[in-house]
Amino acid sequence: MERYAHVTGWGMAVPERVLTNADLARTVDTTDEWIVSHTGIRERRIAGRETTASLSIEAARAALESADLSPRQLDLIIVATSTPEHVFPSTACLVQDALGAANAGAFDLSAACSGFVYAVSLAANGIRAGMHQNVLVIGAETLSRVTNWKDRGTCILFGDGAGAFVLQASATPGGVLASLLRADGSGGDALIIPAGGSHTPTTFDTVRANQHCIAMDGREVYRFATRVMASATREVVQDAGLTLDDIALIVPHQANRRIIDSAARALNLPEDRFVLNIDKYGNTSAASIPMALCEAVQAGRVRPNDHLVLIGFGGGLTWAATVIQWNVTRKPEVSAWRRIGRRAVYGLSKVRSAVRRGLRRVEGALPNEEAVNGNGQHPPEKSG
Ligand code: UT7
Repeated sequence: MERYAHVTGWGMAVPERVLTNADLARTVDTTDEWIVSHTGIRERRIAGRETTASLSIEAARAALESADLSPRQLDLIIVATSTPEHVFPSTACLVQDALGAANAGAFDLSAACSGFVYAVSLAANGIRAGMHQNVLVIGAETLSRVTNWKDRGTCILFGDGAGAFVLQASATPGGVLASLLRADGSGGDALIIPAGGSHTPTTFDTVRANQHCIAMDGREVYRFATRVMASATREVVQDAGLTLDDIALIVPHQANRRIIDSAARALNLPEDRFVLNIDKYGNTSAASIPMALCEAVQAGRVRPNDHLVLIGFGGGLTWAATVIQWNVTRKPEVSAWRRIGRRAVYGLSKVRSAVRRGLRRVEGALPNEEAVNGNGQHPPEKSG
């Protein structure tokens, strides 16, 4: 049986706190007029108590609810992020635990602003190959935590949020039709957090020098973005066996409205063919495409059988595009009882997590016959 990977659920989450351009103009040398005319951004959301994991979990629960899927039915969770909860464990593992997705593998994916499209492509390939049935793909960021709030060239751009999509296997043709993943590491230093990794570990000096914050050559990234957006869109549409006329909506990474305008001109497409929400959220990196798509779906802009292009670009340098045939014909009616039951299960997730931790301790204290001999010693290596 031929297998296809369909989007069946979606959800998003943003922090409560809104930071307007006027707010920023009080702390750095900028104006609302400059920010709007150079980027299209009017405000962004900034995490307070929220974290990359908490936003991911909120978006994931909404996506599972709209797919009418229990977390136990998931077999893979991918979180695309450049601002993970920790270096390790992965944010995806924290999401897995909070959801109670007992049968899922989980990992984070690092491809900066292209991360969500990379993740959708991997998920779809796994589903089509027969390895996975139900995959949760999340793009989530708290870029405000790695923003240099004194650098007017970057601090006006970024915001926080998360978007989540459920992809499911189906025998019905459609879903993710084609993908393109690309990288050019020679441009890695154009968009970078210089310290905190293996190359430049954290010291007092790196912290004093703001080297744990985003450093960007804006013009270089701008030139790269305008170049790849149009070419990658053309290429992936062709790979899907379609033409640009078949594409109902393009959901681009929300980095700068001028980049999107320039791609629209290069592709000779009207602006209303592009989904834009950068004015409300700024650049949320891996979260921007799923958040924009989620809002487009919720606004009724996506109809059954529409062909969509998702296109991301950013740090790495990376870029990626995918074509999706939207086969969702109706939102399933989830009964109130089922919804209440699911909330109760989520409410128990902390208890379940604590029980699992306890069980692991007990298991660890018990003698393991395979690994330990009668004297409590590890068996000698067999020779010969
Ligand atoms: O997520 C993917 C990665 N990110 C991107 O895709 C971002 C790509 N780059 C951009 O969006 C744009 O390059 C920026 C929005 C970051 C900057 O816009 P720009 O039109 O390229 O400005 P610029 O850096 O060339 O600077 C033009 C002028 C400079 O002043 P002078 O040297 O001409 O006197 C800057 O100092 O604008 C000044 N400037 C500002 N003025 C007011 C830079 N930032 C600001 C600011 N407010 N916030």
